[in-house]
Amino acid sequence: MAETSLVWHRGLLNSGGPHRVLKGSLYPISIGEDECAVFGKLIEQFRPENTFIIGNAFGFSSCYIADAMRQYGGQSVITLDSEVEGRGQDCAAVARRLANVMELSLLKNKKGSSPNDTAWAAEGKNFDLVFIDGDHSDPQVTRDFEGILPFADSQAIFVWHDFWLSGINPCLKLAASHGFRWLWLPTSCEMVLGVRDARVFAELQTMFPNSVENQHPHSPLLAPTLIAKEFVRQAWDTAITRYLPAFQPIRRSRSDR
Ligand SMILES: C[S@@+](CC[C@H](N)C(=O)[O-])C[C@H]1O[C@@H](n2cnc3c(N)ncnc32)[C@H](O)[C@@H]1O
Repeated sequence: MAETSLVWHRGLLNSGGPHRVLKGSLYPISIGEDECAVFGKLIEQFRPENTFIIGNAFGFSSCYIADAMRQYGGQSVITLDSEVEGRGQDCAAVARRLANVMELSLLKNKKGSSPNDTAWAAEGKNFDLVFIDGDHSDPQVTRDFEGILPFADSQAIFVWHDFWLSGINPCLKLAASHGFRWLWLPTSCEMVLGVRDARVFAELQTMFPNSVENQHPHSPLLAPTLIAKEFVRQAWDTAITRYLPAFQPIRRSRSDR
């Protein structure tokens, strides 16, 4: 559908990955392949009928989720994306083409901003699986959560991506005040699974023996350091690709670190 580049070949914070970006873009970055596998396990075990995704980018996670759900009787996947990150419109076009080619008739990608457009996008459905992967700053993640919460019952599983970014922990605190218990998973960018129902929570603990309940937040310095490192890495890659083709072998060996 579109050329992509691989980033974080072996994972960012933990082993896993790779992640993808549209070739020539710095953002948005997809979830890692190891993180798709987490969704695969959740879908196989819990067979969600309806899933809501905040943050679709070029459709990598939504197409994976919709493809897995249709194998297990899923009915609908709705994504909401404001197309603000990177080449947002190009991303949305790739997401649409990917869904068409994969014949994912259960997947509807909607353009809009969370939380203002959430109620409209949700179509009054009740969601069993919610994936929050939009703007990861504080308090946006909390707003995303509050916007979709009325459309989820106590058994609904919420998944947050990028525990290391600043918006997730304040949102998890608020979720706990609504009766959620949550588990941190050691995936490439660290996912969090949360639910109110005690039986579902116990099943999640059994399914993910490496998970940690109420993981401590990282140092506030971690995110700016990783972002700066990523910026330098991508700038280096761009410079080498554009201006120093003779140094291609160096780029290849560095990009796998
Ligand atoms: C990290 S990317 C999503 C990646 C995607 N889940 C995947 O793995 O393929 C974040 C996306 O959230 C979108 N976004 C940011 N703020 C948003 C908001 N308030 N409402 C909806 N989408 C938003 C951006 O446009 C971007 O495409």
